[in-house]
Amino acid sequence: MAFPASFIDELIARNPIEDVVSSYVSLNTKSGRLWGCCPFHTEKTPSFSVSTEKQLYYCFGCGKGGGVINFIMDIESLDYPDTVRFLARRAGLTVPEDGSYVSTAKTKTRLHELNRQAARMFNANLWEPQGAKAVEYLMGKRGLSKSTITRFGLGFAPDSWDATMKALKNQGFTEKELLDAGLVISSKNGKGAYDRFRNRVMFPIIDVAGNVVGFGGRVLDDSTPKYLNSPDTLVFNKSKNLYAINLAKKNKQRRIILCEGNMDAVMLHQAGFDCAVASCGTALTDEQARLIAKYADEAVIAYDSDEAGTKATKKAITILERHELKVKVLRMGDSKDPDEFIKKHGAEAFNTLIERSENHIEYQLLSLQNKYDLSLDDNKVEYIKEATKLIASLPNAVSREVYGARAAEAAGVSSDSLAVEVERLRKNRLRKEKKAEQQQMLTPADTLQPKERSLRYTNIRSARAEEGVLQLLLASPELMGSCAAKLLPEHFSSPLLGKVYAAFLQLFAEGLNLRVAAIEGQLTDEEMKHVISVLQSDRIIGDSKRTLSDYCEIIKTEYDKRTYSGEQSLLELRDSLRKRKGYEDDE
Ligand code: UTP
Ligand code: MN
Repeated sequence: MAFPASFIDELIARNPIEDVVSSYVSLNTKSGRLWGCCPFHTEKTPSFSVSTEKQLYYCFGCGKGGGVINFIMDIESLDYPDTVRFLARRAGLTVPEDGSYVSTAKTKTRLHELNRQAARMFNANLWEPQGAKAVEYLMGKRGLSKSTITRFGLGFAPDSWDATMKALKNQGFTEKELLDAGLVISSKNGKGAYDRFRNRVMFPIIDVAGNVVGFGGRVLDDSTPKYLNSPDTLVFNKSKNLYAINLAKKNKQRRIILCEGNMDAVMLHQAGFDCAVASCGTALTDEQARLIAKYADEAVIAYDSDEAGTKATKKAITILERHELKVKVLRMGDSKDPDEFIKKHGAEAFNTLIERSENHIEYQLLSLQNKYDLSLDDNKVEYIKEATKLIASLPNAVSREVYGARAAEAAGVSSDSLAVEVERLRKNRLRKEKKAEQQQMLTPADTLQPKERSLRYTNIRSARAEEGVLQLLLASPELMGSCAAKLLPEHFSSPLLGKVYAAFLQLFAEGLNLRVAAIEGQLTDEEMKHVISVLQSDRIIGDSKRTLSDYCEIIKTEYDKRTYSGEQSLLELRDSLRKRKGYEDDE
């Protein structure tokens, strides 16, 4: 481990999970735990719980859980080392930066430098003879001004297999670094490498901190692929970034305009809409929505008006709403995207479009009206079905009434009858939600197989006991000593539970506290999810020492059965089991 375990121990002790979580979620005490509404999924009744005793959080609704480190990693979208730094800052601790994480930080800085140099070079290329056709494309064909080009640092990657690589090597960057940054691709025979971006106009992608993290490159003609993007690297993750967020985050209106294309975002900024960002053609993710919610209260979706854009809009509405953003949707009529709209109708018209834009309920109701021919009875019935479903999902009674009346009018039925239907659906829905939530609360974690296939238990009897051992140890760490003497990680049938046990042993050996957060750097998301679902459970335990010894016995018996080799006779196995049993009882 790169951060010393003793430092992590102190970090966890100085960041009590209840304190950290309550700066994001409002918590109330109920039956020995703290409860709140889960920040990771939408819900009306709290199923997110924090155990101060075990120092962990767990959501009975979505199954997310972990210790304090995991919580910050998820809610702030930070990686492990940055989370440690974040929590250290919060608690006023100094991070001992000498482990291998330092080198990750260094590599990141180096990649940022490399990308910045590359961006600078691409931009300089524009003003050289080789860049003339790119300038003609950007300024002539696409109508960008020189100052827009400068503001976005647009550039040109030459029509060559190695010009970029050579120039950057001359500046002292290694081929490995160029590969790591995704600027070059290694050739099939593995012997050399060549430039990824050739003969393309370049859009540097800059993160909120102002680092150049990647690039999008567009062809100058109709060839394909139209855009080429940097692959995911140590510093770039396409689904976590938003193009132009570095500029848009400064806007004062607490509004973000979300479009699909890089060019749309650039054009909107040029037209004075300095809050535009682009999702770069990917489906909007929760991470991106969280980023938007940091800088805005209102999100205006301005996706392409084709079928794909309409579909993406629907999905984006759900995601943005989850992050408590007020969502509006633009209809650009005859234009396929904001870039085209601005060119056709100008900035003023686009502004009117925003001012008159429908909130997403109106947008969805109108979409339904366009989908059905309301002069036909069967169409009308379908329309009412879908519209009532939509309206029943609105949390606010006034909106249900307003939009209910509007939908009724469109369908030519009385608003009263529609309202009755809405209420019926709503009651149904609430009942179902409540039932599902209760169901989840009642299902004990220890009767469940891990969701992830690769983690499935092969020996349920042993795995139950293994779960029990871990639960007991977390609740009564004083049992650790006697357990360590009896049970080895190898005895575990579940490699995952064995790994957790080994980590507990390690902490114990170093005289550190048994804390979930102390092992968070060592498990994947899926592994963590399962481990927490096991550890959060409060099984009623009588004599914990006795129970622990029973669990150990089961685990070791099952272990013997597994490792029993065919050469031994069954009788011998029985004898050895008996003998051990007797020995244990004598204790
Ligand atoms: P569009 O095809 O709508 O791009 O794709 P656009 O911005 O309107 O492009 P112009 O106006 O023709 O220049 C939207 C976004 O999807 C990503 C790009 O980020 C693009 O901006 N995309 C598109 C790709 O990554 N690869 C592609 O081949 C096409
Ligand atoms: Mn376009």
